[in-house]
Amino acid sequence: MKTEILKPNIKTYKKAGKLIRSGEIVAFPTETVYGLGASALNEEAVKKIYIAKGRPQDNPLIVHLCRKKDIKKYVKNISKAQKILINKFMPGPISIIFDKNEKICDTVCAGGKTVAIRIPENKVARKFIKATKCPICAPSANTSKRPSPTLASHVYDDMNTKIPLIIDGGQTNIGIESTVVKVDNNMVYILRPGKISKEMIQQKCNLVAIDKIDTSKIPQSPGTKYTHYKPKCDMVIVKNDVVNNINNLYQKTIRNNKKPIIFCKAENEKYYKDKNHVVLGQNSEDASVNLFKYLRTYENNDLIISEYFDNGNMVEALFNRMIKSASGNLI
Ligand code: TXA
Ligand code: MG
Repeated sequence: MKTEILKPNIKTYKKAGKLIRSGEIVAFPTETVYGLGASALNEEAVKKIYIAKGRPQDNPLIVHLCRKKDIKKYVKNISKAQKILINKFMPGPISIIFDKNEKICDTVCAGGKTVAIRIPENKVARKFIKATKCPICAPSANTSKRPSPTLASHVYDDMNTKIPLIIDGGQTNIGIESTVVKVDNNMVYILRPGKISKEMIQQKCNLVAIDKIDTSKIPQSPGTKYTHYKPKCDMVIVKNDVVNNINNLYQKTIRNNKKPIIFCKAENEKYYKDKNHVVLGQNSEDASVNLFKYLRTYENNDLIISEYFDNGNMVEALFNRMIKSASGNLI
């Protein structure tokens, strides 16, 4: 199959709408990462997503809508706390879990009784969803285990020949995926951290939010148990005695005839001037925008040595992705 990359315009949306209604997959940008969309009402189309990604069958997909009033079409009921979350954070980088009704097909929810719903803020995403006239289930548009795509070219690298169309909306502006939340007994459980943090939920909604979850009571998102975001080379995150540890590890790697690269904060670049390095950002927000892109760009080195980012509003979300990329390697 030929994979086209098209700029977003009326003609592209029309074409994308037709493709989706005929049971095909279309990749599209959101404010977080690119998604791999299919109609959530079409079992066969949804199965194609799992195949294109090589995704485990037990990992459910998020359903993307463009209007808040459409949520009630696909869920059994909406609690008071869920309503507050919808009003404060949608559209935006949050996915809220509901009890699903029979309209959403079983494959979307991996056979489970719940469905995660997200209303993206990104204009291209919204116009695309509107043009399809369908609820769009979409995982991140990467091959399973790879870093999520933040550019159309990343999607092309993973999906070329597997899908007919990628809508190119440029670089996504948050860079890591939405916060996934589940409401239970009026408490908001954060199953996957994202730009919308525990503090934001508590302050804006006056609800108790919990991010350290007792998994014997609230099951985690199935997706969080898999290897994820891994670059082709090894990676380590340095949190303690940062500059010394990084310099020592860098020298040791060179002595072993291996090529290291350092991901650093802008303010620390001065310590690595004579070394192979790249500035990931000034704080956790900037670093989130660049993380997946840089993992793909610099994975041809032998070792990525990344500084820990302790500043900005996305410390938790960024570290969650980084520590997975590094398969738990933390110094
Ligand atoms: O920002 C995002 O959320 C992006 C864009 C494309 O919207 N999508 C995304 O999808 O990251 P995906 O499939 O890569 O990650 C979805 C996560 C997985 O960890 C999955 O297990 C969890 O959400 N999830 C989906 N439905 C769920 C459900 N019903 N219950 C619990 N977890 C769910
Ligand atoms: Mg993903």
